[in-house]
Amino acid sequence: MDGNGRWAKKRLLPRIAGHRAGAEAVRRTIRAAGELGIQALTLYAFSSENWRRPASEIADLMGLLRLYLRNEMAELEREGARLHFIGNWREFDADIVALLEEAAARTASNGRIDVAIALNYGAQDELVRAVRQLAGEARDGLVDPAAIDPAMIEARLDTHALPPLDLMIRTSGEERLSNFLLWQAAYAELLFVDTLWPDFDRDALAAAVAAFGRRERRYGGR
Ligand code: FPP
Repeated sequence: MDGNGRWAKKRLLPRIAGHRAGAEAVRRTIRAAGELGIQALTLYAFSSENWRRPASEIADLMGLLRLYLRNEMAELEREGARLHFIGNWREFDADIVALLEEAAARTASNGRIDVAIALNYGAQDELVRAVRQLAGEARDGLVDPAAIDPAMIEARLDTHALPPLDLMIRTSGEERLSNFLLWQAAYAELLFVDTLWPDFDRDALAAAVAAFGRRERRYGGR
């Protein structure tokens, strides 16, 4: 969800105004994804590298997350959204962790769309945690190192409850994965769009889905 800062700068507004508009784009996009029949949507809201931002911006983002979790639950329920959180979100302040746990529990039985929000997430960190877990299981004799296969790694990733990744969209013209879902992206289609995240809407998502439909997926075959 890139481009919040540039969206605000273009309007001579503080960065937080861009993040607030970004949160509105989150609401629009979840609704549109449900309407378009998308089974799962993962949103990159805070990376493990975002701690390098100024303390005031981090505090603003955390404030926005609190607000979102308090105000959006009814809307998410209406959308039939089941919330998941990926990343080291348990390292956030205790009140946010409690809100996240409550949000996941409250939406656990919804089934229209899975919405995963990546919080304090980094794909390399996710892989390191999975490897550590497997190494511990091997040390304890629970896993034979020679039997480790992709499915066993996938089962230990934060995304284990989500379907395979089909399409990754990055907004704002940046053409990098920036440590997002690196394992999961192995066969995903990548789409880079110039739209700044706060301008992302139903039409933008529908256009992305249409572009995905025109791609020929071969998974290494021919
Ligand atoms: C990247 O844009 C965006 C972020 C680091 C924050 C994303 C957060 C939101 C969309 C709002 C909160 C989300 C939820 C789920 C409540 P940037 O700041 O790097 O923009 P720039 O590249 O233009 O500087």
